[in-house]
This record gives sequence, C-alpha cells and structure tokens, in this order.
Amino acid sequence: MTTSAFPLKPLHRFAGQNSAVRQPQEITCFSYDSSHKLRLDSSSLRYYYTPELNVPLSEGFETFIKHDDSVDEHLDSLLEALIDLERRTGRKCSADIVTWRGMMTKFMSLPFNMRDGFEMLATKFQDTIFIEEHHAYRQRTQGPTNKRGEIMSFWGYKFETLSTLPSPWDDCPRSLIESRTSEVVSNEAQFCSIVKTGFGPVRLILGGEVDAAWDARLPPPLHPSLDDPNPQPPTTIQHNYVELKTSKEIMNQRDDVAFERKLQKFWAQSFLLGVGRVLVGFRDDDGILRSVREFDTQSIPTIAKRSGRNLWDGKLSIDFTTSVLKWILETVVDDGVWLIRHRENGQVLEVERTDRSTFLSESFVKWRTG
Ligand code: A3P
Ligand code: MG
Ligand code: MG
Repeated sequence: MTTSAFPLKPLHRFAGQNSAVRQPQEITCFSYDSSHKLRLDSSSLRYYYTPELNVPLSEGFETFIKHDDSVDEHLDSLLEALIDLERRTGRKCSADIVTWRGMMTKFMSLPFNMRDGFEMLATKFQDTIFIEEHHAYRQRTQGPTNKRGEIMSFWGYKFETLSTLPSPWDDCPRSLIESRTSEVVSNEAQFCSIVKTGFGPVRLILGGEVDAAWDARLPPPLHPSLDDPNPQPPTTIQHNYVELKTSKEIMNQRDDVAFERKLQKFWAQSFLLGVGRVLVGFRDDDGILRSVREFDTQSIPTIAKRSGRNLWDGKLSIDFTTSVLKWILETVVDDGVWLIRHRENGQVLEVERTDRSTFLSESFVKWRTG
C-alpha cells in the first residue's frame, strides 16, 4: 500500500503565495424534486423572501420529511449533469479536479480546525481526478447522535422553509407567503449549481447545493441591515444566490468567538460556488428565530481580520488549498481508487491507494469511452 503524507504544519509555509482564484462561473445546474428524483433543470431553485421573526424553528419537527442519506449517491448526479452539458454543447468539460463543493470546504477549513477527521475517495479518469466523500466514513462519524441534535439539525431546514418561496415573491400568492410557518419541512428537494473555477493553476469543476436566489425584484426588506441605499447590481447569476444559515444569538464574547469561527465555514462554502450573500438567522437556545443578518460573502474575511483574534485567514485558506490540490494532482496518478484521509487531530493529510474499483457511474464511463 503506497501512502503519501502532506504535512499541515507549520502553516506559515503556505502563506504569502497569493494564489489566484478564478471567479466561479456557473456552467450548468440540476435539481432533485420533492421525491429526490434527479431533474436536469433549475426547477427546485427557491427564492429568498424575508422570514417572519419570533417563530419557533422546532415547529413541525414531527412531520419532517428527511432524506434517507444511508444510500451512497457518489458523484452520480453531478456526472449526469456533465453528460447532459457535454451532449448539448458537443464539448468535453475538461478540468483537473471534479468534486462536490463540500470536499473543497473541508480543505479550506483544515488549517483552522485540525480536530475533525474526514475521508474522501479519489480516482483519475481521462486526465481528471474525481473526488467523492467516503460515504461509509461519514455515516460512521457524522450527523446528530441524540434527539436534541436531530432537532437542532431540523432548525436549519425549517429556517430555509421560512425564508424561501418556490417562485419570486411577486409571482407568489399572498397565502403561500403567509403559510410558510405551517409548511411541511422536507430536505428531499434541492437545487445544485455546477461551476467552473480555479485555484492557482488547478482547474476545478464543483457542484453544490444553493439554498436560494435573491431576486432583484425583492420588496423593501424588513430588517435594517438589508436597507442598503446603494445595492450593487448583480453582475453574474451567481451573485444572485444566497446561502442560508442558522446560528446561536450572540450574547457574550464566547458566542462571538464561536460565530467568528463559523463564519470561516460559511465563507468558504459560499465563496467556492460564487454565492454572493450569506443570510444568517439568529436563534435563541430554544430555537426561536430572533433576527436575520445579511453578510456579503466577499467581506466576511475582513470581519475575521478586523477582530484581531487571528482565528482564521481567507488568503491562507486559499493558499493552503492550492497547495493541497497540487499535491493531490501529483499523488493520485491512476484509475485506481485512492483514499484521502485526515485523522482526528492529525497533523498530516494522507493519500493511500486502495484495492477498490471505480466509483464513477457506469453511464459516465460509457459516455466518455463510448
Ligand atoms: P444550518 O447550517 O443552518 O444549521 P446548509 O447550510 O449547508 O445549506 O445545510 C442546511 C442545513 O442542513 C443546516 O442548516 C443543518 O440544519 C443541516 N445540516 C447540514 N449538515 C449537517 C450535519 N453534518 N449534521 C446535522 N445537520 C446538518
Ligand atoms: Mg443548503
Ligand atoms: Mg444553508
């Protein structure tokens, strides 16, 4: 078994490289409908509309329709969308790496949190490295382990339901806007954007869920932070996208530090797909939605810089990730399946060859080789 190790420390060896990041550009998208059936369109895209405040986010937990994530979905839907795009355009989508956005978020967060472990699988096929999450590892180690955890996880989906509409507000009947508090919450439906982007010399195709679009025709918002007298017009469609998050109300310095750490993940996740805004619903300990605050994705790293706490740094995150990706390109050299691993509290990233066979879908391999 060949194993390569990539030392994570000292971090300063990654700093100052000033790796250029390409502005992510959406190349295609796909949806899962309310039965989680794949649709090669934007039918499940939702539209942000200010939520009602002081609503209990736990309401409806008993009727939550939760997607069964025990089945390994691999990269299948991302690959189906690429086949469809290649068929429509007659051009092959070339990239050094194709993966889910979530894998990239893990790399971007690693310099500032080495506590959590993760495992990914990678394989090289026609000059591109495909990376997926190691599903069995995730099933073993992640997700809520008790009732309180399950309820808290539900709060995030409830907030999405309270804050979005199936079409822009002016196309929506008033009754639909008002009935959001009693709508059954489900996480089966999703909208995913697929972008072309780049870290230094590494060209990437990333797929990831986008919570909502921010429609230009939005009515005057209810919360003051949105009352920007000179809002910037969106330049590309991605700038119209919104990431929704819930977080604990900031009541003291400890909460503030915890939130500043969370902002790193919010930023990385949104930055990778070019999602322009993050909307945070602040809730109290009982899960009552108390306020909503908007963050401009681009300006989030400045918040971490200005606080002087040195918890994380956006530039370092990008330089570190560029180095990791370059190392993966040098290490994953064939069509075997390789395990990329970070052990809990580990100070290295490891890549090792496994004896598994490819995880790429039959339809994708057939399309590309047929
Ligand atoms: P919050 O992030 O507001 O808690 P995302 O924010 O990435 O769009 O994910 C939507 C919601 O899915 C999250 O909302 C959270 O409720 C739930 N979720 C995501 N990852 C999770 C995990 N690892 N464990 C439990 N819940 C998770
Ligand atoms: Mg989401
Ligand atoms: Mg979200």
